[in-house]
Amino acid sequence: MNENITILRRYYFPKMNVFRQYSTLNAFIDQNSTLGLVPTMGALHQGHTSLIERALAENDQVIVTIFINPTQFEHSDDLKKYPKTLDSDIKMIRNISQKIIVYAPESSDLYSKSIKSSSYSFGSIENVMEGKIRVGHFQGVATVVEKLLTIFLPTNAYFGEKDFQQLQIIRSLVGQKNLSSTIVGCSTCRNNNGLALSSRNSFLTKNETKKASFIFEQLKIAKSLWGVESSKFIIKKIKNSFSNNHDFKLDYFDIRYEKNLLNAENKSENKVRAFIAVKLGKIRLIDNLPLYEF
Ligand code: PAF
Repeated sequence: MNENITILRRYYFPKMNVFRQYSTLNAFIDQNSTLGLVPTMGALHQGHTSLIERALAENDQVIVTIFINPTQFEHSDDLKKYPKTLDSDIKMIRNISQKIIVYAPESSDLYSKSIKSSSYSFGSIENVMEGKIRVGHFQGVATVVEKLLTIFLPTNAYFGEKDFQQLQIIRSLVGQKNLSSTIVGCSTCRNNNGLALSSRNSFLTKNETKKASFIFEQLKIAKSLWGVESSKFIIKKIKNSFSNNHDFKLDYFDIRYEKNLLNAENKSENKVRAFIAVKLGKIRLIDNLPLYEF
């Protein structure tokens, strides 16, 4: 990092490199070093910290963004209810490394004129599963991710595979817009019972958290049957298991190709995943599992 910038940083931000405006932050980016970006909406958990740690290991500088992006929420109620924990998020980041730069803007810094999504075509990867149920969601995700990738020009940007459809949307975005960043997908972090870590888990009761292990169990059953049974058979079996478990209401259970998210009928050379969205009490949870061995 250039010496003047280091001095400036020590002087103005002895401990906390937290920025509200990207125009101020940009002066702290060393153009000659590698930059890792970890976009988040806050409410950080171990899943996020594992992304941050990987970014730190693979880049000279790391920016974590904390921004609850309004355009990816279909209902203003969901946006209002989204957990807002900026202080504890910053503490958590500080505990990992004081070197990390945090960008936690107001909406006006990213959406100067109006808070609206741009328009993208993602074809088959958008029109199924989350994209079908949460209309406009991925347009909002792509809008904010394009802004972040364009502003900071990171070498690498890190996203969790728990939101695998989002990850494929972002890969498509980067291809379509010819953005220079490498998109790094990171495997899902789970609790001891297999529940995929998510900010929404904080809304589950203790009892629901225990019951939620059923989701990963079903994904593992699907994996054990893949290659032995057809996808039609497996889907029927898993749907039956959920109909017999009255704690859950299944939105979808699908077996799809990673690349284009089209339905996969039988085992082939191509990588396939099982995807699930389910309601447990009032909380909607999503998860997925690769059906191939690494
Ligand atoms: O996965 C998330 O937390 C968000 O969708 C993202 C990628 C930070 C965009 O707002």
